[in-house]
Amino acid sequence: MVFSPYRIASLKLRNRLVMAPMATFSSHASGEVHPEELAYLERRSAGGLGMVIAGACGVHASGRAFEGQWMCEKDERLPSLRSAAEAIHRGGAAAVLQIHHGGRHCPRSLTGLERPWSASEVPCGKDGAVVAHAMTETEILEIVESFGQAARLAKDSGWDGVEIHGANGYLLQQFVSPATNRREDGWAASSLRFPLEVYRSVRRSVGPGYLVGYRFSPTEQDGYGMETTRRLIDLLVEEGVDYLHVSLHDFRYILEPEGPEPLLTQVVRAVAGRRPLIGVGSVRSLRDAEEMLAMGADLVALGRALLVEPDWPRVVSEGREPRRRMPREGAASLLTLPTPLVQKMLTVPGWVELED
Ligand SMILES: Cc1cc2nc3c(=O)[nH]c(=O)nc-3n(C[C@H](O)[C@H](O)[C@H](O)COP(=O)(O)O)c2cc1C
Repeated sequence: MVFSPYRIASLKLRNRLVMAPMATFSSHASGEVHPEELAYLERRSAGGLGMVIAGACGVHASGRAFEGQWMCEKDERLPSLRSAAEAIHRGGAAAVLQIHHGGRHCPRSLTGLERPWSASEVPCGKDGAVVAHAMTETEILEIVESFGQAARLAKDSGWDGVEIHGANGYLLQQFVSPATNRREDGWAASSLRFPLEVYRSVRRSVGPGYLVGYRFSPTEQDGYGMETTRRLIDLLVEEGVDYLHVSLHDFRYILEPEGPEPLLTQVVRAVAGRRPLIGVGSVRSLRDAEEMLAMGADLVALGRALLVEPDWPRVVSEGREPRRRMPREGAASLLTLPTPLVQKMLTVPGWVELED
């Protein structure tokens, strides 16, 4: 199953393995892609994946969330975007661009904004010292528009599709969550209007035949639960989204208050085969990937496993064990990883296992 070809909208994938969107923190300060990122993307694609989703490309200057984030917020980015799509295509995988706005998680050092934009005046950062600026109607419409523009740039620069980043606590999720959206106007959390308008803007820009996916977090601590997610899924399916992508740290994760079944199983049931579903979270072996498909996901996304084993699809298809740990020295060249990403992997505890 894992290695059987798969059709998603009008795209033919060589198998069901997908690279999960992963920011690399390595782009030029200007927002242009760095040559190290191109080599990284090409190597992963050449390792045998069906599809590569390139992580978190910023749609608007107010939405840059981390250093080294690349951008797709204006026409001048076309050459940068084109070079990345071409790098992925050289490796044989389909290329999907994840488009992103960080909302309240964007530091002033990157945006120049005194207060980052969000749905409501909620605390930002770890200490909560800064309070977000509640976006005006005009600003909301500007951001909705910027997602559409980013999608057009992706299409014009040769990407096969875009994925709207609605997960992991960034701006779209900030609008979905009652914990961060306390608005009482037409953009209230319960309306789910913001993610829908973003989707519509993207679709208007790229037309009916172009691949548009949506990534979401199924639940949020002290925020929303599966009931909201089921509504969001229904609305996106009605609107015509091409695929859904559930963001999970572990695909077997069970969240007690939501019942005894893994969240992935609950999402599978909510999608009910109406659209392809990408699952993700702690897949390390071929058995894990098979188990995820048996649970009902249509495609298997791999994140950290691909950082430490760029040739994961080829290695497991040959019956070999993939590398599980990253060497402490020489990883950038051995594994074709951008240098700033290696630095993070070496310093953020628990991200990836390191060799002794
Ligand atoms: C270095 C790194 C960067 C990430 N960047 C993004 C991102 O840009 N967008 C996103 O939706 N998820 C991002 N994630 C989350 C991954 O897509 C994935 O959901 C998560 O790592 C769990 O999958 P895994 O266990 O296979 O790594 C990132 C994860 C890592 C490790």
